[in-house]
Amino acid sequence: MNHPPNRPSLVESIRRAWEMVDLTPPPRDPVERALRRCLTIDDLRETARVRVPRPVFEFVDGAAGTEASRDRALAAFDRIHHHPGPLAATARVPIDLSTEIFGRRVALPLIMGPTGFTRMSHTDGELAVARAAAHAGIPYTLSTPATTSIEDVAAATPDADRWFQLYVLRDRARAVDLMARAAATGYRTLVVTVDTPTTGDRRRDTRNGFTIPARIRPRELLQIARHPGWATRFLRAEPLGLASFPIDGHGDMWQGLKAISGADFTFDEIAWVRERWDGPLVVKGILDADLARRAVELGADGVVVSNHGGRQLDRTVAPLDVLEPVAQAIGGQAAVFLDSGVREGSDIAAAIALGATAVLVGRPYLYGLMVGGERGAAHAIEIFRRGLDHHLRLLGVTSVGQLNRRHVTLAPAPHLNADRRERKVSL
Ligand SMILES: Cc1cc2nc3c(=O)[nH]c(=O)nc-3n(C[C@H](O)[C@H](O)[C@H](O)COP(=O)(O)O)c2cc1C
Repeated sequence: MNHPPNRPSLVESIRRAWEMVDLTPPPRDPVERALRRCLTIDDLRETARVRVPRPVFEFVDGAAGTEASRDRALAAFDRIHHHPGPLAATARVPIDLSTEIFGRRVALPLIMGPTGFTRMSHTDGELAVARAAAHAGIPYTLSTPATTSIEDVAAATPDADRWFQLYVLRDRARAVDLMARAAATGYRTLVVTVDTPTTGDRRRDTRNGFTIPARIRPRELLQIARHPGWATRFLRAEPLGLASFPIDGHGDMWQGLKAISGADFTFDEIAWVRERWDGPLVVKGILDADLARRAVELGADGVVVSNHGGRQLDRTVAPLDVLEPVAQAIGGQAAVFLDSGVREGSDIAAAIALGATAVLVGRPYLYGLMVGGERGAAHAIEIFRRGLDHHLRLLGVTSVGQLNRRHVTLAPAPHLNADRRERKVSL
């Protein structure tokens, strides 16, 4: 048979095709297999969705009211435009992703934020996340309503940079006790959350009849049957409970927590906390430059610009939109952190360019935890690390410290435009 010149014969084509065939079997370990397919935090989220019963996934993924606060926090990062600097030889040089936070070098400008009831996502819970963070060289924040105690997390990660998040409980003596135990076991930084006078209106939880401990009705039985891996682990593990302080006389822990939480705690009491904590003090849940200034006046060493991932007040401003005004108000005097909606390495770069020292994340590591316990949490951290490294190379910088305001612009939020238009008309 004659072939046109340069066109391979049939045999040659088959040989070439055969050379391309890859028969390496996929990893046998299902967790490893699942994690390999998760290139992004959104991949982890979609994988998590099918790994755990729906009420558990929705407890983590859901937000308050219309969920606009969560969605705005996420969408704000789509309004960031990144501007590369001049081409620099950044392809192969090591990129320095480390940052100094309160006098200590951390490997990445990323902090595992506090999340309550973590052992519900995966029975290894707080220990798994704390270990993954310690391994990656970044801080971990243990929450007040944690399901592993202050002491147990400290014992499992003795050399880690551990932070403790405090809800100032109605019984102030209990709050003082929590602070004392955190200090005694080497937690370095105290994070006081100020956006939770009461719990947000979590409609998905209400619709799901979500309680802790779970009440198992026929609907839940079906969910459990569909998730045997999660269910077997859950039923074999120590029952879920608030590990750092017991709640007496309340069947439902969630309601019990509401009953004891600090409904009478006010902003000025940050000074009261300051008097009782020697280490760095961070105020979490700030969405206003004047309040950030006030927090610093009351003794805070840093603030977290945050809408609690949209789980508290509905329809807030996106935290990213107030980051720069807050950084202008207190930067230089105090550290500025951002959380809510951080999902990409490039989101971390954007926050830093706008004045943040580092970011906190909540759901991203919980999605990882649901997919693969400690390995899943570590995978989430690695997604951020790899993403940030790659993004900095493309921006043409070789360290986090070189990021500056020229690297980003933030387009205004659409509803803010609408407000401005209205004002113009009325002039
Ligand atoms: C399941 C869950 C539980 C949380 N529990 C707490 C908590 O106990 N204390 C607190 O200050 N913040 C809590 N948060 C808020 C996080 O610390 C953080 O502000 C938020 O998750 C950031 O948004 P992101 O999930 O988009 O990263 C919780 C968040 C989630 C998702």
